Amino acid sequence: MKLSKTTAQNSFKYSWLMGRIYPYVKPVLGRLILGFLVAIPVGLLDGIVALALKPYMDYVVGKHNWSFSLLGHEFVIPYLVLAAAIPFAVIFFAVIQGVFKYLNSYLTTWTSQKITNFVKIGLYEKLISMDSSFFDENPSGIIISRYLNDPDTASKGLVDKCKNLVMSLVGSLGLIGVMLYSSWKLALVGVFVLCVAFVPVALIRKRIKKASNENMVVSGNITTNFNETYSGNKVVTAYCLQGRQHDAFVDQVNESFNITMSLTKRSAWMSPIMYGIASIGIAIVLGFGTQLIMSGEMTAGSFASFVTSLLLLYKPVKTLGGTLTTIQTLFVALGRVFELFDIEPNIKDKENSLELKELNNSIKFTNVCFSYNEEKEILHNINLEVNKGETIAIVGNSGGGKSTLVNLIPRFYDVTDGVIAIDGVDVRDISLNSLRKNIAMVFQDNFLFTGTIRENILMGNPNATEEELQNAVQSAHLEEMLADMPMGIDTELGERGTSLSGGQRQRVAIARAMVRKSPIVILDEATSALDNKSEAVVQKALDNLIQNKTVFVIAHRLSTIQNADRIAVINEGHLVELGSHDELMSIENGQYRLLYEMQFKHQEALV
Ligand SMILES: Nc1ncnc2c1ncn2[C@@H]1O[C@H](COP(=O)(O)OP(=O)(O)O)[C@@H](O)[C@H]1O
Ligand SMILES: [Mg+2]
Repeated sequence: MKLSKTTAQNSFKYSWLMGRIYPYVKPVLGRLILGFLVAIPVGLLDGIVALALKPYMDYVVGKHNWSFSLLGHEFVIPYLVLAAAIPFAVIFFAVIQGVFKYLNSYLTTWTSQKITNFVKIGLYEKLISMDSSFFDENPSGIIISRYLNDPDTASKGLVDKCKNLVMSLVGSLGLIGVMLYSSWKLALVGVFVLCVAFVPVALIRKRIKKASNENMVVSGNITTNFNETYSGNKVVTAYCLQGRQHDAFVDQVNESFNITMSLTKRSAWMSPIMYGIASIGIAIVLGFGTQLIMSGEMTAGSFASFVTSLLLLYKPVKTLGGTLTTIQTLFVALGRVFELFDIEPNIKDKENSLELKELNNSIKFTNVCFSYNEEKEILHNINLEVNKGETIAIVGNSGGGKSTLVNLIPRFYDVTDGVIAIDGVDVRDISLNSLRKNIAMVFQDNFLFTGTIRENILMGNPNATEEELQNAVQSAHLEEMLADMPMGIDTELGERGTSLSGGQRQRVAIARAMVRKSPIVILDEATSALDNKSEAVVQKALDNLIQNKTVFVIAHRLSTIQNADRIAVINEGHLVELGSHDELMSIENGQYRLLYEMQFKHQEALV
């Protein structure tokens, strides 16, 4: 599943998207609604100010006392009292509004952060369940922007925009109410013009979706570039690739610029057009209103309220327009987020999967074929049975499929055809956790995490006792190294363990594999990146690790190979020879013998 190629087909299915986000909103729904409710009085204030103008103009400025009847009583309020009371009332409402504004900010931020976290955690759970081929296919930058940035944009933005929507909608409705109250004829004209002004918003949504998707891919590529510049800094320096990285970065930044500008070119006319239409409306209203006052159909106070409302309407309507435009981007991001939730890993537990307790008999490959993609088959019809306690060395040409073969055992990938069975049970019927618990792996390049050496070793088995830990440290020949460190086993490692040498990293990884105490051990060129001196130490550590285990060892070292019970020669994806060193050496023109003459004999000479 290539993520950059998925383009949020569901972005316009609003009700579907709302249905998908609902479970994440539900736990905070009460507070969310409360937050929106307190947005209502905040939005209404403008209308109240506009409304206050009518009595102010008609009574205070016109010097009329205000008389009205309520419950059969006649009330008369002198205009001087009104003159004093109205400003106070305005201040009073402003204070109330301030309190509500605070509550609104607090509640919406709280809820939007919560929802974002729920979505992010859900996505993260999804991400860590994905299989190796997913990570092969998708660059880190795209993963970061899809799994980290999109949920931020989507869920944080959603609450924010909904809040704006409620506030400006209530604000507009309040002001429209005041307009209707002042003069319904004028109000009809005003509202009609408003509706016309919104037509452009509907016209550009497709374009926004396209640009938003393109921008996601570009920003993902930028992040990938950063990751590579970071992780590959030594290669960048050694091969003077600064110029290459720089040019790629400039290209990506420019591409992002072009996408943004092309969207702006196509959408920036929207706001001026809306303003244009609105100003035509105001002109009409002014002319029509003057006529209504002249004919005595409307008081000057009503007209003042009306015009004030109309002018104040600009702000919430503008916010409304802006929100409706940007909300499209959110829906696109939301569409992308829920697409991720629907990607199922290819490798997962079957229903009723079996628990693998230990290895009793053998690991058996039957007619195993494998290909990473349609283009090329990598492994062809491999048949191989490895018995409990046996050590099998795998040799062969580089790129021939040795790593691929052993990666099929813990199901990093699934066979394309054939079966791998442990004690007669297809590995695909075994639960992933129990399968992998029974396997310890050491690679050529072992990933260590930020944290202490102790933490890194215990990742092999968090339940290991202190004694087991110490045994592993000893067997992995780490004692001397730890004694030289100020904090010993509790020394903090740099990111990816960069503060250790290759041989030291390798031994920490071996200790990690040791505490796992798993019956099956896979070593994939575990010593090939090391110099002779550290290789000797690491080899001793490995010898300790593989005692009494069932071992697959991909090796280039003659002694390891000679000590193995059997040797499997993999050539271009075919298992061409299988047998002990002596057996294979006796084959005239055999592949192993050829390899031995070309490669291993030098080692023998050196030793
Ligand atoms: N993740 C992958 N995606 C696609 N092709 C791969 C992947 N890993 C390895 N290959 C290809 O599979 C073949 C076998 O690779 P590998 O098993 O690593 O060989 P070996 O370990 O024997 O050197 C090579 O042609 C390699 O290019
Ligand atoms: Mg390999």
